[in-house]
Amino acid sequence: MQAILDRIAKTIGASTERGQVATYIPDLAQVDPNQFGIAVCLANGQEYFAGDARTPFSIQSVSKVFAVALALGKVGDGLWRYVGREPSGLAFDSIMLLERERGIPRNPFINAGAIVTTDTYLAGSTPAEALGGLLRFVRDAAEDNDIHINDAVARGEMDTADRNFALAHYMKSHGNLSQDAQHTMGTYCHQCAIDMSCLQLARAGRFLMGGAAGPRLVTPERARRIQALMMTCGHYDGSGDFAFRVGLPGKSGVGGGILVINPGVASIAVWSPGLNAYGNSKLGTEAMEALAQELDWSVF
Ligand code: DON
Repeated sequence: MQAILDRIAKTIGASTERGQVATYIPDLAQVDPNQFGIAVCLANGQEYFAGDARTPFSIQSVSKVFAVALALGKVGDGLWRYVGREPSGLAFDSIMLLERERGIPRNPFINAGAIVTTDTYLAGSTPAEALGGLLRFVRDAAEDNDIHINDAVARGEMDTADRNFALAHYMKSHGNLSQDAQHTMGTYCHQCAIDMSCLQLARAGRFLMGGAAGPRLVTPERARRIQALMMTCGHYDGSGDFAFRVGLPGKSGVGGGILVINPGVASIAVWSPGLNAYGNSKLGTEAMEALAQELDWSVF
């Protein structure tokens, strides 16, 4: 495994075609695109990593996996009254279907669905308490307390969140946002601004993987269902392409990170800041494709 990761970091991680870093959040525009990290936690407890696997990056939408686990823990299947479980086939920040579908977003992994998910775990708490609960969940999952929210990234995102505010207000007009939109959006932007390294993220993903390694934070049934959503919706309108190329459930973020689960076998995190046309990590996707091929990993 170590030799495979070293080879992937050397070849794919050094590619000159690296995609474009996200520029709509000021701090993300400053990130050096020449970085690449990968980490694998196996179900038997063994860990392997290569490249910049210990460098923290903004996990952005990968946080939606932890948020949905937290919201499901709070309201159970009641969450599905507010958000669906179907792929949208549209960009992560699209507003198009919300009008046709009366303010109920397609799934918890597009922005609109994630904002409703945040609104659900926020209900009854202050934003600080809700974010404290989210951080506790992530730190417990990673068994690492050195995981924090990057306030500068959160502020930058709040300052540029006009479209996300539009989604939030539109859903509120349909009665599908229970909290003050300002509070929900503040919580959402801070949630997206969690910094983690590949090693921390792969460790945190173990709660979905099953097997002996890692803390058990959700039931096996819930873990399976979250992974089903990752497979069908985790890469937005690129979800079919990721499933076709990699064959494993994954969740991406515009910071260039991807969390991938091989059920019962491994939790994998890969990071390279340059994005492809869908807003998913270009080299991260290529690296996962290579790793899955080398190891014959696929759920199919
Ligand atoms: O809502 C946003 O715009 C971001 N904070 C998160 C978006 C994101 O990571 C989408 N991922 N590919």
